[in-house]
Amino acid sequence: MAKDVIIALDFPDAQRALAFLDTLGDERPYVKIGMELYYAEGPDMVRRIVDRGHQVFLDLKIHDIPNTAAGAARSVSRLGASMINLHAGGGITMMRAAADALRDTPGEPPLLIAVTMLTSLNQDALTHELLIARPVQDAVLHYASNAKAAGLDGVVCSPHEARPVHDLLGDAFLTVTPGVRFAEDAVGDQQRVTTPDMAARLGSDYIVVGRPITKANNPLEAYRRCRDAFVGI
Ligand code: C5P
Repeated sequence: MAKDVIIALDFPDAQRALAFLDTLGDERPYVKIGMELYYAEGPDMVRRIVDRGHQVFLDLKIHDIPNTAAGAARSVSRLGASMINLHAGGGITMMRAAADALRDTPGEPPLLIAVTMLTSLNQDALTHELLIARPVQDAVLHYASNAKAAGLDGVVCSPHEARPVHDLLGDAFLTVTPGVRFAEDAVGDQQRVTTPDMAARLGSDYIVVGRPITKANNPLEAYRRCRDAFVGI
């Protein structure tokens, strides 16, 4: 099972994203391109970073009617990303349409991962805004089961949900987990955080790490420390 650290390239433009990657010397980490950078720079940003030798998780969180979601998955699959994602809230038919579209596309398809519940949604929002009268973890596990039923490869979830997801859906069903901090770091806007070694012990397959590496005084040292702590377990 591949275990890796994915650096979140949360930068507003190509210049800053590439300047950050230049600080990493010969390292070619797995990186995540999200909406901020993608909407600023377009698909060429993905191709450029893939051409530099990185694997890319393209975090565009597709969510639409099945036909449109399938078309979106087909389009992003041509950019060379190794992992893409969609919202499980779009339902099983939408997820299956996207998964089927990837299978029909020539070449090695990217891993397709579902966002279960956004970790910014707490129990209060789930109950009173979305009218889902269940504990958050029940909803996460149910959405993860839907994703597996639709033929997806895994889910984005909290490291604290990685073990329950694996227990329910098997070790081959991937857990991609943000919310990681070094023990001495500020928590920032993340609600519940874990250290890289704790995320490994909790069963995360990939950790997504942004500011602890991108804002570090020495990003290369921070990346290596994170990778050694996570992959070394
Ligand atoms: O800087 P930090 O390590 O908090 O960055 C985490 C990354 O993971 C960000 O790109 C954020 O958008 C993403 N993410 C998250 N929580 C989710 C889904 C994605 O923090 N539930």
